[in-house]
Amino acid sequence: MNTIYFDAAGSEEARRQCLYEGQLFVFSPRPSSLALCQFADELIQEAFGSLSPEKAQYSLPVEEYAAILAKLKPMFINHPKSKECIQAIVKEFGCDPRKTYFDVPRMRTSTSDGYLTTGIAYAWHPHRDTWYSAPQCQINWWMPIYGIDSNHGVAFHPRYWKDPIKNDSKKYNYYQWNKEFRPNASKHLKEDPRPLPRPTEPVEIEPQIRPVCPVGGIIMFAGAQLHSSVPNSSGKTRFSIDFRTVNGDDLVAKAGAPNIDSACTGTSLRDFLRVSDLSRVPEDVVALHSDGTETMGDLIYRPSTPNALSD
Ligand SMILES: [Fe+2]
Repeated sequence: MNTIYFDAAGSEEARRQCLYEGQLFVFSPRPSSLALCQFADELIQEAFGSLSPEKAQYSLPVEEYAAILAKLKPMFINHPKSKECIQAIVKEFGCDPRKTYFDVPRMRTSTSDGYLTTGIAYAWHPHRDTWYSAPQCQINWWMPIYGIDSNHGVAFHPRYWKDPIKNDSKKYNYYQWNKEFRPNASKHLKEDPRPLPRPTEPVEIEPQIRPVCPVGGIIMFAGAQLHSSVPNSSGKTRFSIDFRTVNGDDLVAKAGAPNIDSACTGTSLRDFLRVSDLSRVPEDVVALHSDGTETMGDLIYRPSTPNALSD
């Protein structure tokens, strides 16, 4: 990995190839991405009432804060308008709506100074999404809802694009995760006992790259890219959105970033929806990515209540 493309004008296919080679893309805000951020902002403002969302952590007991997020995040994730906004973004960025699948957007929060770093506001250690059963052709889209700086965004660790790291992704099965661990994120206020794959040897955290873009700007990267939450020392809570896409042709061809160190099982592919009609990835295509662990849990996370958190 050696390049950050800024507002690249090339084809979407060429962009995917570059992403699979570990390059990063950063885009200026566009009408569709700003619309999603604006919608998220409306929900956030409503949830925090008279408090400033970026500063609310300083006025609320952590239990109360986590309870607000536990209501807010599923509302955003599951809202039909969030899906509509993603469909518009993906189209505006040149993806073929009949061949591109997306999953529902997550709203992430990174509180400052270690106020809440577990469960519902997890501070992500360095990881690849492909340790979490993402397909090798997964592309991640990340955008800030409020302004970010170098000290509370997302970081990439480029030397690990080619170098494997010892990690415990072998213990992670997506179906087991759906069944046993996914529903309880908001309960973990002090520590996080969930089996989240992580490096099992020291990570050389430097050199790292921290792209900074305006509200509604997009940072795009391969799911196989090693990335982490920047430890937030900004004095403000960071609110961001991320979602993922996969291309149907690449799924069939089993194209994508090389797998250098992931050993998890199961696949998250059944979560993805086609941009054109919200249909699922066809089962014969999913079957190409199956590994025989389908009986270990739930193939898709089905929350007990419609508004439960899906992450
Ligand atoms: Fe991630």
